[in-house]
This record gives sequence, C-alpha cells and structure tokens, in this order.
Amino acid sequence: MYQEFAHLWPLVSPPEEYEESARYWRDILRARLGPGRHPVLELGVGGGHHLSHLTADFQATAVDISEAMLAVSRRLNPGVTHVQGDMRSVRLGRTFKAVLIHDAIEYMLTEDDLRATFATARAHLEPGGVFVVAPDWFKETFPGTHVSHFVRTGSEPEFTFIEYVADPDPQDTTVEWVFFYIFRDREGIRVEEDHHLMSLFPRDTWLRLLGEAGFTVELAPYPDYYTGQQVHLLVGVLLQ
Ligand SMILES: C[S@@+](CC[C@H](N)C(=O)[O-])C[C@H]1O[C@@H](n2cnc3c(N)ncnc32)[C@H](O)[C@@H]1O
Repeated sequence: MYQEFAHLWPLVSPPEEYEESARYWRDILRARLGPGRHPVLELGVGGGHHLSHLTADFQATAVDISEAMLAVSRRLNPGVTHVQGDMRSVRLGRTFKAVLIHDAIEYMLTEDDLRATFATARAHLEPGGVFVVAPDWFKETFPGTHVSHFVRTGSEPEFTFIEYVADPDPQDTTVEWVFFYIFRDREGIRVEEDHHLMSLFPRDTWLRLLGEAGFTVELAPYPDYYTGQQVHLLVGVLLQ
C-alpha cells in the first residue's frame, strides 16, 4: 500500500473521511495549547489526509518512512515541511508544541518499538508539550473480525477495495489486515492482495509505556473510524 500502491491511498481512504475525527484533535490541541498557529509534528503522516484538516490552524511538519506516501501528502499539503524518516529513530533537531501520531502507530509491533517512538515524541517536544496518539483499538475494544469494501466507478480502471481485519491469535498483541485491490478494465480483472501486521496492545501497556517515557496521560473520547462507537485518544503531556 505505501509503496507500489501509494497512489491509490486517496481512493482507499479519501481526505474528507477524516474531517469529523480531526475535529477532536483540533479541540484537544486548542484546549491545551491555547490560541495561535502553534508548530506541530505528525509522525507517520501517510497521505496527510488527517493532517490536511489541521493545517489551517497549526504549522505542521510531517515525517513518514515511505517517500511514495510523502509524495501523496506533499500534493495535498503543499505548505507542510515533509521529511523522510522512521518514527522510532528520526531526530529533526528542533522541538514542537505537539507531536501527533494517527493510525500509523499500529505499525509499531513491539513494546520496544513503542518505547523508541515515545522517545522520538519526547525528543521533539517542549516541556509541557502535548503528545496525541491514536491506536484504532486497545485489546479491550477490538470489535472482532470485520470486513469493509467499496467500488469506485467512473474511472478506468474501475477500482474495488476490500479490507479484512482479524485477530488470529488472541494471546498475542497483533492483528492481521488484508487488503484486496481489484482493478477492472477492458483487458479484464486483476487482483492484488496486501497483508499488514498491526499491533493490538492492552490499554495498560500504553499507559505504562507512556508513563515511563515521562508523560502524564489522559484518555479523551473519540469515535471509532470503523464502527462509530466511542474509543479513546491517548493524550500525553510532557512533564515540565
Ligand atoms: C495508514 S497510513 C497513515 C495514513 C494517515 N493517517 C493519513 O491520514 O493519510 C500509515 C503510514 O505509516 C507509515 N509508517 C509505517 N511505519 C513507519 C515508521 N516506522 N516510521 C514512519 N512512518 C511509518 C507508512 O509508511 C504509512 O504511510
């Protein structure tokens, strides 16, 4: 998805679908940072769809490990500074008022990955700065196997997307996502299958590791992108 098929991201997950959820992030940042176009850093920005709803209010810098995804975000967010890097190790040599990690955090599969990423967030925050991170689910809120799909007609090739998420081993801290891309044109039908392993940690793991990294943490209500049910954003404030 994030290399060969990066150009499909705007079809798979269009920017307008993030408008409602971005409002929660904007409100949290405003409440904690006060007025002003504060500098913020998003790690794992992807196509910048979520970020595109925050750039009018905040001055953003964005990091992603994939150059192909950064190219998608650059087109959508021309005023944002984009830097290629790994959220576990990148160091930009400056600080921000807030560090944001949206769904990309789920590519951090181990506690050591989370520790390294939280250290990156800490290294880029001023004392009192805010760290907002949004795993889709905690172990306790995972809704179980689910499938979603759509067909985008009106362009050639016609594009169908099917997304399947399941937790084959409930004893471990990962879930598997499988994406199917189906392209139909005059030549026929082509199917691509794309597997993603993502993390699913218990709530206490997040709270413990954020605490160890020096953050006081609050859980802020947030709608689940997939089910619409209430889940939580993790909001950490760096101890002064
Ligand atoms: C689901 S996409 C993010 C989409 C984004 N929320 C948006 O609104 O467009 C996940 C992103 O995480 C990035 N990613 C995965 N592992 C990463 C890492 N170690 N460091 C930085 N980015 C990473 C991928 O390259 C991908 O662009």
